[in-house]
Amino acid sequence: MKVLITGGAGFIGCNFVRHMLREHPGIEIVVLDKLTYAGRLENLEDVKDKTKFVKGDICDKDIVHKVMTGCDSVVNFAAETHVDRSISSPEEFVRTDVLGVFTLLEEARKSDVKRFEQISTDEVYGSTESGSFSEKTLLDPSSPYSASKAGGELLARSYARTYGLNVVVTRSSNNYGPFQFPEKLIPVLIIKALRDEPLPIYGKGLNVRDWLHVDDNCRAIELVLNKGKPGDIVNIGSGNEVPNIEIAKKILHHMNKPESLIKFVADRPGHDFRYSLDWGRLRELGWSPHVKLEDGLKRTVDWYLKNRSWWLPIA
Ligand SMILES: NC(=O)c1ccc[n+]([C@@H]2O[C@H](COP(=O)([O-])OP(=O)(O)OC[C@H]3O[C@@H](n4cnc5c(N)ncnc54)[C@H](O)[C@@H]3O)[C@@H](O)[C@H]2O)c1
Repeated sequence: MKVLITGGAGFIGCNFVRHMLREHPGIEIVVLDKLTYAGRLENLEDVKDKTKFVKGDICDKDIVHKVMTGCDSVVNFAAETHVDRSISSPEEFVRTDVLGVFTLLEEARKSDVKRFEQISTDEVYGSTESGSFSEKTLLDPSSPYSASKAGGELLARSYARTYGLNVVVTRSSNNYGPFQFPEKLIPVLIIKALRDEPLPIYGKGLNVRDWLHVDDNCRAIELVLNKGKPGDIVNIGSGNEVPNIEIAKKILHHMNKPESLIKFVADRPGHDFRYSLDWGRLRELGWSPHVKLEDGLKRTVDWYLKNRSWWLPIA
């Protein structure tokens, strides 16, 4: 089996590469990654002898053609991913998250690829005060990030219907775990707490996210890759809906730091209040989350404490 993993030098991608190597010794993995500020070769250091790495842009059709040739499946993690950056500089989001997906799909439909998995996000649904989003809920994205991700996955689904490409889409909730770039909430909070600096929390800290450990997400992504029906869209949640303020308190607790470090800052424009997923389809496929939030957070705090040399140059 030969798999192309695009964006494999980023947070979830590098964890997925490790997951696949653990689960399938002998698998051939090609990683295509542009190495933007968020992608780092260091993230693949321990697996560099077991993977083929190609530096390149998913919008570059010649490179995409070269790396996809001979692959059985493609899992596309490559994306611009930070909502705040999408508000200040949306163009790169539209380029990578829409045009990049299109470039991959165009190559995939002409090639022998048997499965194309597009990694999308629960943010495509927008926000809800109550209830949970099912895969049939209308898409209502709020930020240039989530709108671009919605565009990418709609294109992927159109390639399934129009060209018969074997596409599956996953929409996961917020991930946390090792190798997450220190601009996202949990690593930011850990590093600030370690430095005894104020922990910035948007608004009143009441926005709710369903926190999913990256290891659980990787298991789900692989399951959908192997067992999803062509055209399937699958939510990946974890049942850990927690307001941001509680996440900050839990991290401070694990680090023996005072809650007085929490500092409320002006809210993000268009900030979605709550995401909540119904992941019944994934349960049908046989998945349930393994990592409890308290354990996962503790492990993540420990990872950042032990791996200062990884984050010091970029924090
Ligand atoms: N992190 C989350 O909580 C979360 C939740 C739901 C969905 N997702 C989705 O999962 C995927 C991975 O997210 P992440 O948090 O690992 O992101 P990340 O920002 O850590 O990594 C993105 C990777 O994509 C690469 N990349 C960016 N533009 C590229 C391009 N044009 N060509 C090739 N490579 C490019 C970067 O170099 C980086 O390695 C994304 O598609 C994201 O939308 C993430």
